[in-house]
Amino acid sequence: MALRPILLHPDPRLRRRAEPVAAVTPEIGRLAEDMLATMYDAPGVGLAAPQVGVGRRLLVMDCVKNPEAPRRPMVLVNPEIAWASDERRTYEEGCLSLPDQYAEIERPARVRVRWTGLDGRPAEEEFDGLWATCVQHEIDHLDGRLFIDYLSALRRQLITRRMEKLKRDRARA
Ligand code: NI
Repeated sequence: MALRPILLHPDPRLRRRAEPVAAVTPEIGRLAEDMLATMYDAPGVGLAAPQVGVGRRLLVMDCVKNPEAPRRPMVLVNPEIAWASDERRTYEEGCLSLPDQYAEIERPARVRVRWTGLDGRPAEEEFDGLWATCVQHEIDHLDGRLFIDYLSALRRQLITRRMEKLKRDRARA
């Protein structure tokens, strides 16, 4: 198990459509373990493989907010949204690839998602609340989409400029 560096926006690897995972191999299992450890360490509630520079359709998440409650680490291989509610919900989103940047984003309030588990078996679940927001945000990453893409061009450019400065400062440090 190893922590992996998280790519920061802007980075072309965050903008590519990720390829399906052909088979759940031990290597995919190790990637998922590393991603969960990286996500908990950050800390964050979700992480998609492109964020650690791997262009494969895999994401991890755990949206249990209560620190007293047991963790619920989830690994979704080749996830797909099978259904989305007409009802929408606004949530203030952030992203580990855009530290300290937040924006209110509106998305379907509930989604039904199908994926392959680490055991290679198909799985399906309906998500609501933070889980629904998170799974949609992470699937967006697999399509090269970031939450700032839902904002006005002006606001997106403002955030991108802030991120470019952050990356320059970090490179100098
Ligand atoms: Ni993100």
